[in-house]
Amino acid sequence: MTNVPFVDFKRQYATLRETLHQAACRVIDSTHYIGGEEVQAFEREMAACLGAQEVCGVACATSGLFAALKCLGIGPGDEVITTVHTAIATAEAISLTGATAVFCDIQKGYFNIDPAEAEKKITAKTRALVPVHLYGQPADMDSFLQLARKHNLLVVEDCAQAQGAKYRGNYVGTMGDAGVFSFFPSKNLGGFGDGGAVIAKDPAVMKKIRMFSNHGRTSKYLHEFEGINSRLDALQAALLRVCLPYLDSWNAHRRLAASWYDAGLQGINSLEYPRVLPGTEPVYHVYVIRVPDREDLQAYLKKQGIETGVHYPYALSTLPAYAHVKDRNGSFPEAEAACAHILSLPMSPAISREEVDFVCSAIKAYFKAS
Ligand SMILES: Cc1ncc(COP(=O)(O)O)c(C=O)c1O
Repeated sequence: MTNVPFVDFKRQYATLRETLHQAACRVIDSTHYIGGEEVQAFEREMAACLGAQEVCGVACATSGLFAALKCLGIGPGDEVITTVHTAIATAEAISLTGATAVFCDIQKGYFNIDPAEAEKKITAKTRALVPVHLYGQPADMDSFLQLARKHNLLVVEDCAQAQGAKYRGNYVGTMGDAGVFSFFPSKNLGGFGDGGAVIAKDPAVMKKIRMFSNHGRTSKYLHEFEGINSRLDALQAALLRVCLPYLDSWNAHRRLAASWYDAGLQGINSLEYPRVLPGTEPVYHVYVIRVPDREDLQAYLKKQGIETGVHYPYALSTLPAYAHVKDRNGSFPEAEAACAHILSLPMSPAISREEVDFVCSAIKAYFKAS
């Protein structure tokens, strides 16, 4: 074996190539590029998959999170608690509303937000919690929903990395007041460009999110309030409709590949592999290990032709973008330690057993030699 890519879109979509081309041509020939039947059909189909009342397609998860928070009434003066170990998009969306993102450390042994730490961050200004189901691993939703009830807070689930994952039998995104999904190409349901979707419990909030994402309009030139342009393209919707029926089998393959990694990496004492919270069904957006010298292992694997990633090398609090926040370096020991030691191994719905075995053998050889 000469090369193991981190993801392999060409292989993933090889069998769908014709159908995808037909879907793209259907939209081009329809001359209907914004909204319309393709978007509505995708929204219906995704809602049916989730068992949700309604789905609103949006331009990306960043704007979807912004729309959800804004339409739930979050704004200036409010504080919203989220994890310090996530994509910047989660915190950006909070800041865009005018509210303050309050960072929280991750749970020891896991990579998701720690509910006990979150409770310590609650103040009179706290209005919402944004748990992120990072790496496709559901966050501890029972604890967050309990916290929300106790302190009268809203819950917006960031499901960008976890479409199809379940927590005690419930799909992520369906437990909070709103749930937001991303169709960024490498996501579990990846599109062919940017895209996202939002669901909300309250139909009135859902209606507002739909309007907000489309300039606050009720009809073409009647705008009830100012919103933004955050619509899902008809072209993306048509392509996503082709992929959606495969999401479950792609996620099942990711779980299978994770089990190959789990077995193949057994016995390396200084390596931690991903732990799964009891009662959850993860979807392994990425498979993240923790090792003493990440840079060294990453360089070694690169030499063997194995592509890896780091999600993420920096806790948000340590970034220049958050130079203004009170709790910075050293405030989030679990997340900061994780950022220094984590490595994401190749993972995709198209990864083969041979590739996973090759990666595991290379890692074993590295640890034997070091
Ligand atoms: C956890 C998380 N939230 C939000 C986003 C933003 O998604 P999008 O790229 O669709 O705006 C991402 C994307 O990387 C993400 O990983």
